[in-house]
Amino acid sequence: MKSIIFATLTSLALAARPFLNEADTGIDEALADVPQGTLPPLEDIVGLPDFEWAARHYMNTSAYTYYRNGAAGEWAYRNNLEAFQRYTAKPRVLRDNSKIESTFTTSILGHNFSAPFYISPCARGALANERAELGLVEGAYQGDILYIPSDFSSLPLKELAAARPSNGSQVMWQQVYLDASNDTATKAHFKEIEQSGARAIVFTVDSAGPGVRHRAQRYAAGSADADYSAFTWQYYQKLQNFTTLPVVIKGIQTVEDAKMAVKYKAPAIVLSNHGGRNFDSSPSGFEVALEIHQEAPEIFKQIEVYADGGVRYGSDVLKMLALGVRAVGLGRPFMYANAYSTEGVAKAVELLKAEIASDAAHLGLSSLKDIGPQYFKWTPNNWYS
Ligand SMILES: Cc1cc2nc3c(=O)[nH]c(=O)nc-3n(C[C@H](O)[C@H](O)[C@H](O)COP(=O)(O)O)c2cc1C
Ligand SMILES: *[C@@H]1O[C@H](CO)[C@@H](O)[C@H](O)[C@H]1NC(C)=O
Ligand SMILES: *[C@@H]1O[C@H](CO)[C@@H](O)[C@H](O)[C@H]1NC(C)=O
Ligand SMILES: *[C@@H]1O[C@H](CO)[C@@H](O)[C@H](O)[C@H]1NC(C)=O
Ligand SMILES: *[C@@H]1O[C@H](CO)[C@@H](O)[C@H](O)[C@H]1NC(C)=O
Ligand SMILES: *[C@@H]1O[C@H](CO)[C@@H](O)[C@H](O)[C@H]1NC(C)=O
Repeated sequence: MKSIIFATLTSLALAARPFLNEADTGIDEALADVPQGTLPPLEDIVGLPDFEWAARHYMNTSAYTYYRNGAAGEWAYRNNLEAFQRYTAKPRVLRDNSKIESTFTTSILGHNFSAPFYISPCARGALANERAELGLVEGAYQGDILYIPSDFSSLPLKELAAARPSNGSQVMWQQVYLDASNDTATKAHFKEIEQSGARAIVFTVDSAGPGVRHRAQRYAAGSADADYSAFTWQYYQKLQNFTTLPVVIKGIQTVEDAKMAVKYKAPAIVLSNHGGRNFDSSPSGFEVALEIHQEAPEIFKQIEVYADGGVRYGSDVLKMLALGVRAVGLGRPFMYANAYSTEGVAKAVELLKAEIASDAAHLGLSSLKDIGPQYFKWTPNNWYS
């Protein structure tokens, strides 16, 4: 008897806290008629998670798996998504929010954009749409946000550069993977990036070895991942001398390394665990931001700090900004939106802007610039326990 009760309680507890890769907001029922292999009409997409639903129905399993997969049991990937929900807002009321939408402009390393979020570098844009990264370049331009193409983009750097308006009015950066044993190749690559017109180089350092990717392996989705490498902080210092462009470090996962980045004069860092794709047990960018907020908040003033991982809603963006993060990156949502090419990417930008405005108003902000840690409780809630 006891064990039956126990088993029932256990299953109830489990049932009370399922992991929802796509939270249930009724899309399965609403789009039940959309056949596998086709995209639902763009007007039926009401939030960023819907783009994943659309891409999952449209792309073949191996292509979808390449975007979706995380490392090993995908606990770090799931944690990226869930970490935001552990912290509840402290909304203030009776505040004038009538101008909230006009306060989004954000300067990122001196370049002005219309919002404090950007498109994170993700490989293989052609898996979702034959126009590949062109939709990301154009969608970012329409939405007036930053796009950082991946070193493993489907299209060559030259074609990405050519897709920007010729008057130079679109600022893009460029992500790189490097080979520590070949400075000649690195210098040539940096020269090529400078000539392409990119305004900063983003050096990814969270790919310290091959990723363990069970889901990708199962569906032969391949994985453009790293080999073991000899990178050090001294190497980063040397690297900065190879180019006149700022070299941003992507993949900082501790307050200790954020301090190292300050010491080694990085202009900016990205708090990131690569979307949970490389190391199960790695913290989400948001958790690292919280750690810096608690242990060395001055870092947010000493250098520019960006962060990514699991951002899907306006409230996620606001939680990052509240801690001192200057700009927030999104990877998978834009890759899925790119199934619709430019229109989809531009719509994703608009949806997220609208959510940020609504959530900021409900938080009690008159200006997005007023956001700070006082707008959230930084002790975990018990929503799921
Ligand atoms: C399909 C895919 C490919 C990626 N490729 C790269 C890459 O080439 N270089 C890189 O620095 N990060 C890469 N990332 C990591 C993203 O830049 C970013 O850190 C991550 O996607 C953020 O998490 P999110 O997807 O939950 O938004 C990739 C992520 C995905 C999903
Ligand atoms: C960016 O915006 C600021 C504040 O609105 C403005 O002072 C500055 O001139 C702008 N910079 C550029 C490069 O447009
Ligand atoms: C899946 O789709 C991608 C992108 O269109 C294509 O390159 C690939 O060959 C497809 N794979 C399978 C198994 O159909
Ligand atoms: C640059 O070119 C684009 C596309 O042709 C145009 O929309 C934009 O207004 C131009 N910007 C400036 C500053 O000239
Ligand atoms: C280094 O890179 C250059 C340029 O890409 C290439 O020609 C050369 O063979 C590489 N050297 C080694 C030792 O791999
Ligand atoms: C980089 O260049 C600066 C200025 O030219 C020089 O002082 C410094 O030693 C160089 N650093 C490395 C690691 O090469």
